[in-house]
Amino acid sequence: MVMGLKLVMWNVLLLEMVFLSSWVFCGTASVSYDHKAIIVNGQRRILISGSIHYPRSTPEMWPDLIQKAKDGGLDVIQTYVFWNGHEPQPGKYYFEERYDLVKFMKLVKQAGLYVHLRIGPYACAEWNFGGFPVWLKYVPGISFRTNNGPFKAAMQKFTTKIVNMMKAERLYETQGGPIILSQIENEYGPMEYELGAPGKAYSEWAAHMAVNQGTGVPWVMCKQDDAPDPIINACNGFYCDYFSPNKDYKPKMWTEAWTGWFTEFGGPVPYRPAEDLAFSVARFIQKGGSFINYYMYHGGTNFARTAGGPFIATSYDYDAPLDEYGLLREPKWGHLKDLHRAIKLCEPALVSGDPSVTPLGNYQEAHVFKSKSGACAAFLANYNEHSFAKVAFGNMHYNLPPWSISVLPDCKHTVYNTARVGAQSAQMKMTPVVYKVGFDWKSYNEETTSYGDNTFTMVGLLEQINTTRDQTDYLWYMTDVKINPDEGFLKGGKWPFLTVLSAGHALHVFVNGQLSGSVYGSLENPKLTFSKAANLRAGVNKISLLSIAVGLPNVGPHFETWNAGVLGPVSLSGLDEGRRDLSWQKWSYKIGLEGEALSLHSLSGSSSVEWVEGSFVAQKQPLTWYKSTFNAPAGNEPLALDMASMGKGQVWINGKSIGRYWPGYKASGTCGSCNYAGWFTEKKCLSNCGEASQRWYHVPRPWLNPSGNLLVVFEELGGNPYGISLVKRGISSVCADIFEWQPTLMNWQMQASGKVNKPLRPKAHLSCAPGQKISSIKFASFGTPEGACGSFREGSCHAHNSYDAFEKYCIGQQSCSVTVAPELFGGDPCPNVMKKLSVEAICS
Ligand code: GAL
Repeated sequence: MVMGLKLVMWNVLLLEMVFLSSWVFCGTASVSYDHKAIIVNGQRRILISGSIHYPRSTPEMWPDLIQKAKDGGLDVIQTYVFWNGHEPQPGKYYFEERYDLVKFMKLVKQAGLYVHLRIGPYACAEWNFGGFPVWLKYVPGISFRTNNGPFKAAMQKFTTKIVNMMKAERLYETQGGPIILSQIENEYGPMEYELGAPGKAYSEWAAHMAVNQGTGVPWVMCKQDDAPDPIINACNGFYCDYFSPNKDYKPKMWTEAWTGWFTEFGGPVPYRPAEDLAFSVARFIQKGGSFINYYMYHGGTNFARTAGGPFIATSYDYDAPLDEYGLLREPKWGHLKDLHRAIKLCEPALVSGDPSVTPLGNYQEAHVFKSKSGACAAFLANYNEHSFAKVAFGNMHYNLPPWSISVLPDCKHTVYNTARVGAQSAQMKMTPVVYKVGFDWKSYNEETTSYGDNTFTMVGLLEQINTTRDQTDYLWYMTDVKINPDEGFLKGGKWPFLTVLSAGHALHVFVNGQLSGSVYGSLENPKLTFSKAANLRAGVNKISLLSIAVGLPNVGPHFETWNAGVLGPVSLSGLDEGRRDLSWQKWSYKIGLEGEALSLHSLSGSSSVEWVEGSFVAQKQPLTWYKSTFNAPAGNEPLALDMASMGKGQVWINGKSIGRYWPGYKASGTCGSCNYAGWFTEKKCLSNCGEASQRWYHVPRPWLNPSGNLLVVFEELGGNPYGISLVKRGISSVCADIFEWQPTLMNWQMQASGKVNKPLRPKAHLSCAPGQKISSIKFASFGTPEGACGSFREGSCHAHNSYDAFEKYCIGQQSCSVTVAPELFGGDPCPNVMKKLSVEAICS
């Protein structure tokens, strides 16, 4: 009976889909799909999308980010909806400032782009608790992301809230708005597999619940092979060309093309070469892909305590085409822009049907798309990661670099090759903002042995998140230990050992107010054990454990079961009695820091205590608050705090949280040389090993007043506040690295329009930031130069006049272009050798 009803419902839905697509032909606002395209208002499209998560930047940054996405050739902006940001308490909603979802949507619309709204409401996204509000964990009987009544009720309520809000603001495409696609759940397939029947029941319920919202636009479920009709299942990964949707009337969608990867405290900094990213996208399109979304296009910042975890860094830069600060990351941004233009030229052929595939060699293939009206587009691929291939296609020959795809929008001329970067690269610098004097600090010491007002006492050890409800990172566990004056160790024996087992994530241990040591886990293993000789004395000793959560996990099964904090046992060994278990004695608890209770980070709270000044300012002392004021630097370059001299803590400006900082956690892992060719994984091409995982912390300019800005730092481990500096981010140099005869779009356009009848030489374009000029040429070589931007060196072949043209056309200019032709460099230095031009120009 129930099944029968279900079938009827699905049939109605399918009918609705058919009905909806019939509107297409009347030209009414609508979104539908077929095997080869997303169909928006009757237009069959190949769509390029990019993730920009609105709370990871400020509303003032949004228009610029969206414009840069548009300039980069994007059609769609994709974002999750962050439930815990929008419903901090049950039924109390928040849609202001960085959480002004409607404003973000409207800005995207104003720019003429579409939106893919991933309502979730589970996000993952390296976001605290995967986007779930922590209060949800305390709804009686809850079990997350499975066939559970309380969970489903809460999920449906929030989803409906968001959908209704979007409808009320007329934000769906069918209402004239920008939203063309939505998402329910996130990567649930693998979880469903793990959970079995209840998982299956839940995903079916979620699909129905979503479709019944009647948004008028298609829903997507990513990594959900059994997504029921009419929901489209989609792929996430570094490569997705192997993926096919579960029905052949659905388009092939890639909802997360990972542009890089996230940074964790303690981990190296990820990097994904632009050539490989472009290759993966071209692979997907040549196999019939209709929609590709860059995750992330702008990663941004995990402000405040929004970072997931544990140990997700504050920077969510992601090596994305727009860097954390919203600046273009070159050459990635430009190389993808060129790719998008090439793909768009192929669009009429691409939407027409499946490609015909012809082998061109052992590791080479041609994918050819043809439309009835005569459009023809070809992709020539060389999968060999080690060697070039010369292939015959049509009646021409083509030279394909290793691990690359050439795009031929007319099946004749190459306009783009994924391994030939025409866009410039840029090297960035962080320049200290020069003040007459550095920050003028005042300090305040946080108590380490206080049993004052806000403490409560219990027998035994408490789980941390149940206790703090994640209102703070910090929970004090304090207990007394009586030591008999006759104890052997007091008479010259060995100190007893204090051992503390914790579920994570970090722990500072104080014995009688002195920091005895700190331990922390890692993303892979958040659990930790502290074990150290304890400096105890006769009489009553105070053991204070400051347990710290560093972001709640954002992925995994059974969110309701996760825990953190000192779960024990806690014990002393080496006493006369042997081992003394402290786990089951009386413990006093304090949630959060004294300074947090006093709001020392805020404008009003910061004057509620007496700070020490001048030569009394604490240095290298654990648990210290610092404050200072400063004026906003002139200009509009993005700003950051260089925290390299500090250990671990949090930082605020004018009461707003910049986030957690932890330069004391050095990156461990394997860093090394990086070749774009070959399969990429998040473990490849890492950098920064042995250095701070994150040294710089984004300070959004809109958070600053012209003068008198309050900067507050809470340091846990002990650091030197006088080493902190405010820096501005800008371009230090720009490079071009261009091969002779490298294909360009311009070249093709000139030939296609009949203006020229033979290939043109490519050009090297160099461009500093607005307001900057090229002040010198650091390197130029036409021949066989080696290395990369920042570290170019001459090869065995070098044209001696390589610098001349650049000195002549570029110095003193904001930007310049120089044709890569031997005559400009004093003639061909080595005939019959494949040459290139490498140049680096300093911007100042
Ligand atoms: C995906 C997930 C994203 C993000 C990504 C890694 O599996 O859907 O939300 O967590 O991994 O950055």
